[in-house]
Amino acid sequence: MSTEVTRLIQSHRSIRKYTDAPIPQEVLEDVLASVQWAPSSHNVQAYSVIIVRSQEAKQQLAMLAGGQKWVEECPVFLVFCADLYKLKHACEMNGEQLAPEGVENLLVAAIDTALAAENALIAARSHGLGGVMIGGIRNNPRGVADVLGLPSLTIPIMGMCLGYPDQDVEQKPRLPKRAVFHEERYQSEGIAEALEEYERISADYYERRTRGKVTDGWTKQMADYVNKPRRTHMKQFVEEQGYKLT
Ligand SMILES: Cc1cc2nc3c(=O)[nH]c(=O)nc-3n(C[C@H](O)[C@H](O)[C@H](O)COP(=O)(O)O)c2cc1C
Repeated sequence: MSTEVTRLIQSHRSIRKYTDAPIPQEVLEDVLASVQWAPSSHNVQAYSVIIVRSQEAKQQLAMLAGGQKWVEECPVFLVFCADLYKLKHACEMNGEQLAPEGVENLLVAAIDTALAAENALIAARSHGLGGVMIGGIRNNPRGVADVLGLPSLTIPIMGMCLGYPDQDVEQKPRLPKRAVFHEERYQSEGIAEALEEYERISADYYERRTRGKVTDGWTKQMADYVNKPRRTHMKQFVEEQGYKLT
C-alpha cells in the first residue's frame, strides 16, 4: 500500500540538469522550513544551511567540488554544515565550556545535518524541483569554508543542487531487499547471492545509462571505491575547525 508521500520518496533520482526557471522565494522558504522539522539528536540542532545563489560563489564551489558543472548551473545551491559553533555560544551564555571532543560529537552533528538535508530534498521534490546532494564539497573543505565564511566548529558535510528538472533519468536500481532488511537478526547467509544478483541488475543499468561506456556493476565499482582511504584531509580539517577527535 502506498501513499502520495511514499510514492514521492520511491520515485527519487538525482537530477543534475535544470531549466532556467528560478525557484520562487516562497517555495524555497517552504523547503527550508521542512529542513528545520527534521528530528535532531537531543534536539541539539547541530547544523546550519548556507543558501548560495550568487553565480560567482557557485562557480567557485563547483570548482572546489571537483569541477561539477551542475553546482554552478543550478539556480540554488544549499550547503549543509555540521555546526557546534552555536552550541559553543549556548554554553558561554550559561557560563559553561563546550567540549567538542570524541567522535560522538561529530557523529551527532553529521547525522543531524544529513537528516536535515534529506528533508530538504523531499520537500523540494514535492514542489516539483529536482536535485542532487554534493559530497564533493569535502574535496576542498578549507576552500569551501573560505568562500562561505564558515566559523570554527562548522564542517561542510554536503551541498545540494536544486532546480526545476531538465532531464528525465531512469531510477538507479537499489540492492535486493534481502541484502538490506533482516527479520530479528542479521541474515548474513543470503548476502553473497543477493550481491551476485545486484551485480547483474546494476551492470545492465549502467550499460544502458552510459550507452555501453560503463559495464561494471555495483560490486565491481564498490570494490574499486572502498579499497582505498578517501578524503584523508578531513581529519586535519575537522581538527583545525576545533573538534578533538581523540
Ligand atoms: C552524501 C551524498 C553525497 C553525494 N555527492 C555527490 C556528488 O558530489 N556529486 C554527484 O554528482 N552526486 C553525488 N551524490 C549523489 C549520488 O551519487 C546518488 O545519490 C547515488 O548514485 C544514487 O543515485 P540516485 O540518487 O539517482 O538514486 C551524493 C549523494 C549523497 C547522499
